[in-house]
Amino acid sequence: MFAKRFVTVTPLLSRGLASTTEKAPLIKTFNIYRWSPDTPEEKPRLQEYKIDLNDCGPMVLDALLKIKNEQDATLTFRRSCREGICGSCAMNIGGRNTLACLCRIDRDTSKNTKIYPLPHMFVVRDLVPDLTHFYKQYKSIQPYLQRDTVPEDGKENLQSIADRKKLDGLYECILCACCSTSCPSYWWNQQEYLGPAVLMQAYRWLIDSRDEATHMRRELLQNSMSLYRCHTILNCTRTCPKGLNPGKAIAEIKKGLSLEG
Ligand code: SF4
Ligand code: SF4
Ligand code: FES
Repeated sequence: MFAKRFVTVTPLLSRGLASTTEKAPLIKTFNIYRWSPDTPEEKPRLQEYKIDLNDCGPMVLDALLKIKNEQDATLTFRRSCREGICGSCAMNIGGRNTLACLCRIDRDTSKNTKIYPLPHMFVVRDLVPDLTHFYKQYKSIQPYLQRDTVPEDGKENLQSIADRKKLDGLYECILCACCSTSCPSYWWNQQEYLGPAVLMQAYRWLIDSRDEATHMRRELLQNSMSLYRCHTILNCTRTCPKGLNPGKAIAEIKKGLSLEG
């Protein structure tokens, strides 16, 4: 008898406690770009989704995953690592190119958050840009170590600590394309201008003390379009979600080429 009463009273008590600590919903509205190649006759549109921020992780990627899992499985975006390493969740959030997994949700519910794919790129579907050309450009700079000579010990290409330090701020680039797609010069000359992300990697190989293809690498950039379309607007550096400085790397390449000339 006693045990039975105990069992019936406890849930009532805990329910009463829960109701006093429950938070009021914090409803945030997201307007997300939608376009599908399955219905090409339909124009791209912004679709509205509402979620309770009290029941969601802090980042925009958390919100996108919640929407996809609970409201609309057709919403399409790229993501993998959810910690700023893979570069796949790059998109335009609230007017800025950034990584959805590193971008905190604006908790001001009076303002909607608009999310678009990276600007001035062909769209595969919804928030997924076509990066084929971007990767072709990356491939064109031959982003790998090139040497004619073998290392002294026949095994490793050694580098001094000072030379290794020169690669800091360059090797961390995750090729998310946020910078290139924020660059007006890249928007208008994308077919020929390499853009900040790829140029920063070109510089990364130019200053690597172990690499012996410096002359070829410089020749690749000595034309009016590949490099010199950069007009030092610096959108690239402002937007980089990893805090890198592609604008400075480009300036260093220009300096190196002018000294050579
Ligand atoms: S420099 Fe920054 S913004 Fe540009 S591709 Fe690399 S990580 Fe992304
Ligand atoms: S400095 Fe300006 S023009 Fe040059 S790559 Fe960056 S955004 Fe583009
Ligand atoms: S999911 Fe990998 S960088 Fe955002």
